[in-house]
Amino acid sequence: MRVIQTIAELRSSLSTERHISLVPTMGNLHEGHLSLVQAARRREGVVVASIFVNPLQFAPHEDFARYPRTLDDDCDLLAEGGCDIVFTPGPQEMYPVPQEFRVQPSATVADVLEGAFRPGFFIGVSTVVLKLFNIVQPTVAVFGKKDYQQLLVVRQMVGQLCLPIEIIAGETVRDASGLALSSRNGYLTEDERSEATALSSCLLRVAERVRSGGRDWSTIEATAVDSLQARGWHPDYVAIRRRSDLGAPTRDELLVVLGAARLGSTRLIDNIEI
Ligand code: PAJ
Repeated sequence: MRVIQTIAELRSSLSTERHISLVPTMGNLHEGHLSLVQAARRREGVVVASIFVNPLQFAPHEDFARYPRTLDDDCDLLAEGGCDIVFTPGPQEMYPVPQEFRVQPSATVADVLEGAFRPGFFIGVSTVVLKLFNIVQPTVAVFGKKDYQQLLVVRQMVGQLCLPIEIIAGETVRDASGLALSSRNGYLTEDERSEATALSSCLLRVAERVRSGGRDWSTIEATAVDSLQARGWHPDYVAIRRRSDLGAPTRDELLVVLGAARLGSTRLIDNIEI
């Protein structure tokens, strides 16, 4: 496995490749990330993982400075996981000049839920993902359903900007308690970690109520928010939405329940397809 820091070197080592699968990450890798590498591995051609903690997608009060950076361990995991090339640009390589051109995603999918609580987040994500796509020029890119809204934003960007890239969605990988793996789980204290499973249990209960015929969306959502609050969480939202565009459900559509809540100083997100 090669570890490459510059765009020039990456381009020259990929110049003869016809099939390239890209797994974009911010590092501090876990089994969830590695499952995406495995999905990429199943496709023909070379597998590239990128590791870049993207300053553009963090608001000033968020955790950019303390976001875990564990490059050596990440490279070991990627090598074992069958990755061919790791692209680890520094901030100067990705943003040599202030990034004034930015991607403005559609408000429909990007200004609700995460976008409402983290204004500018999806502009930062779309911009860095488009840059990575232009740098790597992959034929396939893999994203996790763990960040459901991000996946939809990327799919829309690829569709509306006619990017010749197939987007593959990877299922959310969870620990034995049901907690979705996340780099931010590392911020949790021991007590918080055992409590953290309550988020996925809460979303599972919502999914069950809907599966068994519940259609009073706002009551079901409010009950879920109350139950998290009662356990000491600070929920931002629990929302039952259409899978296709995160719009409010109307009739017989495929649905997803998404939740975001803070436990102590750690903000966690999760979702479950219904
Ligand atoms: P990061 O949080 O590192 O996640 C990288 C990829 O791993 C994303 O596609 C995310 O959905 C996926 N992922 C995270 N946890 C997962 C889990 N438990 N199971 C399956 N997949 C999981 O998402 C980002 O980085 C950034 O926003 C990025 C797209 C790299 C742009 O900066």
